[in-house]
Amino acid sequence: MLKDQTGLLMSGSEEAVAHYNRAIGHLLAFQPEVVAQTEAARAADPSCVMAQALRAYLGLMSSEYPDAVNAARFVKGLTSTDAREAGHLSAIGQWIAGDWHGASRTLDQLLSLYPRDILALSVGHQLDFFLGEAGNLRGRITRALPHWDPDHHLYGYLLGMQAFGLEECGQYGAAEKAGRAAIAHHADNVWAIHAVGHTYEMRGLFQEGITFLDSQSASWTTSNFLKVHTSWHKAIFALEQQDYGAALAICDETLSFDQSLRTALEMADAGSLLWRVHLDEVDVGTRWEPLAEAWASKDPTCWYVFNDLHAILAMVGAGRQAEAEAIVTRMESAILSPERLVSNGLAMASAGLPAAQALTAFGRGDYGRTVSIMAPIRHQLSIFGGSHAQRDVFQRTLLVAARRAGQTGFAEILCQERLEARPASVWAAAQRGLL
Ligand SMILES: [Fe+2]
Repeated sequence: MLKDQTGLLMSGSEEAVAHYNRAIGHLLAFQPEVVAQTEAARAADPSCVMAQALRAYLGLMSSEYPDAVNAARFVKGLTSTDAREAGHLSAIGQWIAGDWHGASRTLDQLLSLYPRDILALSVGHQLDFFLGEAGNLRGRITRALPHWDPDHHLYGYLLGMQAFGLEECGQYGAAEKAGRAAIAHHADNVWAIHAVGHTYEMRGLFQEGITFLDSQSASWTTSNFLKVHTSWHKAIFALEQQDYGAALAICDETLSFDQSLRTALEMADAGSLLWRVHLDEVDVGTRWEPLAEAWASKDPTCWYVFNDLHAILAMVGAGRQAEAEAIVTRMESAILSPERLVSNGLAMASAGLPAAQALTAFGRGDYGRTVSIMAPIRHQLSIFGGSHAQRDVFQRTLLVAARRAGQTGFAEILCQERLEARPASVWAAAQRGLL
């Protein structure tokens, strides 16, 4: 067996290993070239287990059911006598079967034996994000870091992961420090740039966030998988300052164009932005319709409730209430077959389905119902994944529903909570002013 760039043994020809190493570099920088390099590795040697595993993970990380089904094709019949490679095949099998949590545990176990397995670290980090597990977003990378040489050429990407983990755990100062160190290692470290952006969001430092993202624009506005999402962050900063023109301009320019309407995670960002504008009763024009149409064209299988919730936002926003209700009905049916939907079933049953029902109630104008369903689960939303910043769209919906339902006392509590966390929040102060 040959060794990869971290010194770990892997099966495959010299050419396949070289392509795999390059693919990993692109993966860490969120560059689309990761696909071509992975395909080149697979073509060079189909028995290269790590290349096949990487290709399967790329599908799974789209968070869309057809891609998960397709992922099975890359590892079908594949086995390995190497414990690390076999571990990856097990994790992939669990994830394809809907056991996202099981896949996460398997990758954790694998990393306890091979803490320099960069694929397990990178994929595991994203899996922690999909599962909303802030503790492991920080813990997984924290456990691995002591086993890495700080002079290793990939070390900066690890710091970027650490930055995001620290941020989701509320350690904003440490997160910013790690993120900036990561960027110093690799200017193209868009995950680290994104993590530092999050620290500004969570601290309510909105103008500073815009200034920071602008200072890094040469990196994140190039062709990479985080371009749309980082644009969304910039738009959120603008929205917080009630600069709807700037936010909608970003939406038109980057968030909601033909190509971005092909992937669920990018569609979620577009809808999340438009919904926040909608909550402020600012007209978004005809922007909902293409987004709703894009969601309507997606596979209806319940696979990742975070996406389904954003599909509901788009349907309600576009006035397609019946289609929003239909998504809820599908979720109610899917919960009855939990053996097929292990992790998603858990997320739906505990918070995802109530959140979906609360959103459709909001669409019907039944704000009291939205509050009665959403309030009890408002501290449990992390189970359906995403970041604090992304889930904030649901917290905002709850606050607006409470205000519109005339539940002034509860709305005041929600405003106070927001202002304690972000004293400079223009939006929270504005909501309070409406009570
Ligand atoms: Fe983010």
